[in-house]
Amino acid sequence: MAQDSSRPDFWDSRYAAGVTPWDARGAPPMLEAWIAAHPDRLQGARVLVPGCGSGYEVRCFARAGCEVLAIDFSDAALQAAQRELGDLAHLARKGDFFGFEGDDVPFDFIYERALLCALPRRVWTDWGRRVAALLPAGALLAGFFYFDDNAKGPPFGTDAGALRALLDPGFVRIEDRIVPAEQCLPMFAGKERWQLWRRRSSTPGEAPPGSPRASEQADGSH
Ligand SMILES: C[S@@+](CC[C@H](N)C(=O)[O-])C[C@H]1O[C@@H](n2cnc3c(N)ncnc32)[C@H](O)[C@@H]1O
Repeated sequence: MAQDSSRPDFWDSRYAAGVTPWDARGAPPMLEAWIAAHPDRLQGARVLVPGCGSGYEVRCFARAGCEVLAIDFSDAALQAAQRELGDLAHLARKGDFFGFEGDDVPFDFIYERALLCALPRRVWTDWGRRVAALLPAGALLAGFFYFDDNAKGPPFGTDAGALRALLDPGFVRIEDRIVPAEQCLPMFAGKERWQLWRRRSSTPGEAPPGSPRASEQADGSH
């Protein structure tokens, strides 16, 4: 099987072989609870689900009145999403998170689950730049982050400092909760955190989205 998780063939071969231990077979309860608690925030919001895999969450966002775009760069993952989504299959499209059709209009919300931890750490700075470029001030990055100090992956674990370095100073973290182990798949149990980050307005010291990373200038304060 392919070994470089930054390439679509890595994921194609695993979806095609049915080797998908990250696939939760449904939407995470903490996401469903958050959506139910924030109906006004989501009504009409433009939501991006990058690296959607089977895309269970797409239906939750659509039901909440969001305009959803789910993308995945693996054909096999996309087929899984389209099978899962049925009448909503048109909301999932082939696309690379680092450049896709429709990325010229800002999003209100980016949903993260198992994309960052799927990417080799060498491209994490690009991931941080990309979420900053896709979200205007006030928009949200929210979802599930895998915390671990494992050398090999995927999944590649992060920690609070590394995540802050990727998102500072463009974002402020406004929620951070451990996901109860009984809500996690075995591979993520005890190591998954629900987090919500709000995009800040540009500050004088911040590099504009997409330019060399703001974390290099971060003062670490907030
Ligand atoms: C571990 S799976 C997670 C899938 C889904 N988010 C979930 O929670 O089940 C990672 C997914 O990200 C996709 N992916 C990885 N890099 C990507 C990229 N640069 N652009 C779009 N999709 C990507 C893979 O094809 C795969 O479907």
